[in-house]
This record gives sequence, structure tokens and C-alpha cells, in this order.
Amino acid sequence: MDQPSAQDTAASPAAAIETRGLTKRYRGGQLAVSSLDLRVPRGSVFGFLGPNGSGKTTTIRMLMGLIEASSGGARVLGEPMPRAARTVLPKVGALIEGPALYGFLSGRDNLARFDAADPTADPRSRARRIDAALDRVGLTAAAGKKARAYSLGMKQRLGLASALLQPRELLILDEPTNGLDPQGMREIRTLVRELAEDGTTVFLSSHLLDEIEQVCTHAAVMAQGRLITQGTVAELVAASRGRLAVTTPDPAEAVRILKEHGVTDLVVQDERITGELPSVEAGPPEEPPQGAEGPLDLAELNAALVHGGVRVRSFGTERASLEDVFVSLTGEGFDVAG
Ligand SMILES: Nc1ncnc2c1ncn2[C@@H]1O[C@H](COP(=O)(O)OP(=O)(O)OP(=O)(O)O)[C@@H](O)[C@H]1O
Ligand SMILES: [Mg+2]
Repeated sequence: MDQPSAQDTAASPAAAIETRGLTKRYRGGQLAVSSLDLRVPRGSVFGFLGPNGSGKTTTIRMLMGLIEASSGGARVLGEPMPRAARTVLPKVGALIEGPALYGFLSGRDNLARFDAADPTADPRSRARRIDAALDRVGLTAAAGKKARAYSLGMKQRLGLASALLQPRELLILDEPTNGLDPQGMREIRTLVRELAEDGTTVFLSSHLLDEIEQVCTHAAVMAQGRLITQGTVAELVAASRGRLAVTTPDPAEAVRILKEHGVTDLVVQDERITGELPSVEAGPPEEPPQGAEGPLDLAELNAALVHGGVRVRSFGTERASLEDVFVSLTGEGFDVAG
């Protein structure tokens, strides 16, 4: 599942982010990240998904060299971190859990400070960079307002603007839509897609499954500091096909036939039956090879019901969401770990 595709090896031999056995145990003894092997292909929009407390921010802090790993290592843009921080970090824009802002400065002046702190930034073009960044995150109108008067969503946008002052090869965004209203979330998603089209690799964490499904090409799922799975979003969702759902006035007979065809966990509610389809063979999600031993053919299953005298009102699979994937992989709900 995490095999590099031809596409991402062609673009660059190195992954944008690669970790080996990356582990963080905090001083109090909390094992926040455990033996993480992550591979983020260049050019991907990579969703780092996990419930609250699953180790996302801790991982990001290690990637950026803000905290030390207890063991294991990480490469960012092909270079070891934190050793190569000085050469790597200028190519990486980051937004990590609430940017450090000066409340008494305006949004624009906060950006000016960030820009001035960057030794590679030419002061003569500073104003232009700041205007462009403000415009990209939709803060132009509020640029003169003091940052302490910003809402959480506006602060989040300002943090994002600071990450966008320079063209970046990689953006690392920790919960970029945190605190935003639905409109703001849509804007950030659009922005992320635009940045990705320009060739920037975007690594974003989220505990919102929908968000990851909508904007990401790849995802990794974390639970309690451990990596549960990683791959393309299409693969992850395909690996957990939705449940079969049949509506019929003949539920008893339908259940018998479905059972014969390997459907399990059947639940009957009046005229509606749902069940788990036999597991899908590993392989390309779209079309199983003709005639090969593959997943159960839904058309045949439907035909079997009809041949068996079952009157079928509706027949299909419910779309699997990443949440289904998470629950099926961990056997747990998508809740905060204790
Ligand atoms: N500075 C710290 N000292 C001790 N424990 C910490 C520290 N920071 C985080 N932890 C613990 O490490 C675990 C992982 O926390 P982390 O902040 O990485 O999770 P997260 O996935 O980013 O969660 P969220 O979705 O809430 O942002 C949690 O159990 C948390 O309590
Ligand atoms: Mg976090």
C-alpha cells in the first residue's frame, strides 16, 4: 500500500518526509509517538489523521526540529532532521498549533516581523510578499487590525499567511482549519489544492475525516501514537468497501441468499438489510481482472436474489468513509484516547 508510485519516484527520488522508527516519550513517561515509519511522497497532499492525543502535533514538532526524538529518525526534503534544519527549514512553511503572534501588532506587522526574521528574504520586496500572502488567505481587509482582536480563525489565517511568505517546497500544517467557520474551511481547502497544483507538497494534520477525504491524495492514520495505515486515500477507502444495503419486502429469503454468498454481519431492519461483503482482494481498487478470482460481483449477487424470488427494491453499497476505515482498522470509535 505504501509502495512509491512511478509518478512520485519520477518527480524526485526522495520522499518529502520520511521517518524511521520515530519515537517520542515525553519526560512524564507518556509515549506520544511510537516507532513511526511514515512516507510522504513529493507532490502529494498528505493527510495526517488521528483523534485528539494520537501524536500528530508531537510528530510535526519532531519533523520541524522543535523537539528531540527519543529514538528513530526523520528526513525532510531528503535531509536528516534536526541536523539539516538550517538548510531544510527555509524550504518548509509551517503552521503548528496556534502561531506565535504579537497581539499588540497588526496582522500586517506580524507578517513583517516573520519576514524580517528570514535571512533569505529581500527587504525590498517585503511589502509585496506580505500583500500577496494576506490576499491568499483572505485577510487583506483585516490586515490593519491588531492581532489580539483577531478571532481564532483569523489568527489561523495569519499563521498560514506567515507560512506562505516564501514559495515553499513543503508546507506542514497542523490542523489548518481549526477554528474556522465552514466558509473559512472551504477557502483553506481551495488554497491547499492551489498550492498543491503549484507543486508544493502539503502535509496537513486533522482529526476531521471529511476534510482529509475532500482535499488529500494520501493519508496516514494514527491511533495512540501508532501508525495504523498509510496510502492513497482511494486505496484506504477501497480497502474498506461500504456495507451492502438491500431493501426488499422479502427480508427472510434475502438474508438466506446473502448468507449463502458469504455476506456476514447481516442486520435486518424492517425491509432494509445491511451486511458486510466478503473481503476485497488486494489489488487495484477500480476493476478486478476479468475472470480472475476476485471480489464478489455485486451484479451476480443481485441476480441471485432476484432468481431466488426476492423482490429487490434497492441494492447497493453504502459509501465507505475514512471513519469506517478507522473503525475497521482499530475496532474503536474515533474518540480521544485515554
Ligand atoms: N509537552 C508534553 N508533555 C507531556 N505529554 C505531552 C506533551 N505534549 C503532548 N503530550 C501527550 O502526548 C500525546 C500526543 O499528543 P499530541 O499533542 O501529539 O496529539 P495530537 O494528535 O496532536 O492531538 P490533537 O488532535 O488534540 O491536537 C497525548 O497523550 C498528550 O497528552
Ligand atoms: Mg495536535
